[in-house]
Amino acid sequence: MKLKKRGKFVNSLKFRLMIALSLVGIIPGFLLKSGIIDSYEDRAVQQRSIDVSNQCKILSNQICTYGYLVEPTSEMINAEIEQLAGMYDGRLMVIDNAFKIIKDTYVLEEGKTIVSEEVIKCFKGENTTSYIKKNNYIQLTVPIIDTITKDSVGVILVSISTDSIRDSISILYQKASLLQFGMGIVILTLAFYLARVLVKPFARVSNAIEALNEGYINEKISVADYTETELISEAFNKMMSRMKVLDDSRQEFVSNVSHELKTPLTSMKVLADSLIAQEDVQAELYKEFMIDITQEIDRENKIINDLLSLVKLDKTSADLNIASVNINELLELILKRLRPIAAKSNIELIFESFRPVTAEVDEVKITLAISNLVENAIKYNIENGWVHVSLNADHKYFYIKVADSGIGIPEESVEHIYERFYRVDKSHSREIGGTGLGLSITRNAILMHRGAIKVYSKEGEGTTFTVRVPLNYIS
Ligand SMILES: Nc1ncnc2c1ncn2[C@@H]1O[C@H](COP(=O)(O)OP(=O)(O)O)[C@@H](O)[C@H]1O
Ligand SMILES: [Mg+2]
Repeated sequence: MKLKKRGKFVNSLKFRLMIALSLVGIIPGFLLKSGIIDSYEDRAVQQRSIDVSNQCKILSNQICTYGYLVEPTSEMINAEIEQLAGMYDGRLMVIDNAFKIIKDTYVLEEGKTIVSEEVIKCFKGENTTSYIKKNNYIQLTVPIIDTITKDSVGVILVSISTDSIRDSISILYQKASLLQFGMGIVILTLAFYLARVLVKPFARVSNAIEALNEGYINEKISVADYTETELISEAFNKMMSRMKVLDDSRQEFVSNVSHELKTPLTSMKVLADSLIAQEDVQAELYKEFMIDITQEIDRENKIINDLLSLVKLDKTSADLNIASVNINELLELILKRLRPIAAKSNIELIFESFRPVTAEVDEVKITLAISNLVENAIKYNIENGWVHVSLNADHKYFYIKVADSGIGIPEESVEHIYERFYRVDKSHSREIGGTGLGLSITRNAILMHRGAIKVYSKEGEGTTFTVRVPLNYIS
């Protein structure tokens, strides 16, 4: 059990909570890190561009003032250009209005012509700045404006390395990653503990159930930590009390059965004992006692047969043996079998059929059910009484009515007559010879066919049972 649980850890609520909590903790860290580093980079590049651009503006004024574009020999300007290029670890070119490079701090391009988009734009008075991230440099252009005519007479083209920015970013990145790693561990630990705490009430529910399984079913569990666990507890308690009801009724049934089976045995023992105790018993007395004993054996036999029928009916309805049955013929047959018993008390047995009826039923079980009803109607009747059986049907159901002129059932007993072993008047019924199982058998058989049974009775006047069964079996 424990091993199986561990094997399914990946599927557990605890594991999923842990993952969810960890993600909630770690993802914002990642976003924050890249966001902060990106914006730092943007700002650093921007700041560097502004610095360089300002320096270049000062330089461009001086270039103009010293006529450097005409005669690029000024020691001072050259020194300043070199200094500026050196300061920002970059390359600086001065271009005159013929697009000729008159000064290049790398010397390589001096004297050559440059016609690039940026330079043309710059001559039109537009400063350009572009950050070429891939090659780690910023390129910017600053126009040289003639102080008198205000015309663009040249361009300063600067490329500066952003290696220093890159370096600080990489340091920043390392630090952030380290911090994030530390945070990750803290978050994972926290998530692990939090998940454990959050899931605990569920474990408590299953532990409580487990404990109950080992102990007594009469106890209740209660885990009120969450609404959910409370609901589970309640549902479980409901199920348990249902089980208890079932268990109780089973126990009651067993004790009733034992009692009922013991009664005839006790009688037989008493009869036999009294015969043994007497000496020189007359043959007639023997015979008389033996007849009594045989009757008790018959009774015992009847109870066992009824019990077997009932147990068979208690099984699932899958055991039904459904076939198309002519109900008229079935009823005729039942009445024919019972007519001799009715004749003993001079009871008139009448069958009335309103139409021919064929239905999908289990013939044996329906016969058992209806026989019990007619048998009761004869047994609990008066001398010279009558029993009226009728059959009718509509498009969905057939209806059987068994009415009698008998002793009736007291109002307070009506709700109990379907209970196993229940008999209205124990002593009187004993004379008549019943087991109290007949109506439970009848009801079970009818319910298995998804039918219904109802009773109307008035003490001293008679009883009517009506049965309704679907014509087509509903599985
Ligand atoms: N037609 C009826 N008229 C009067 N009482 C009846 C009738 N049918 C059943 N009962 C009462 O219901 C009790 C239960 O019936 P049943 O389950 O068939 O048991 P039993 O074996 O006693 O016939 C009977 O003992 C009887 O008291
Ligand atoms: Mg009966």
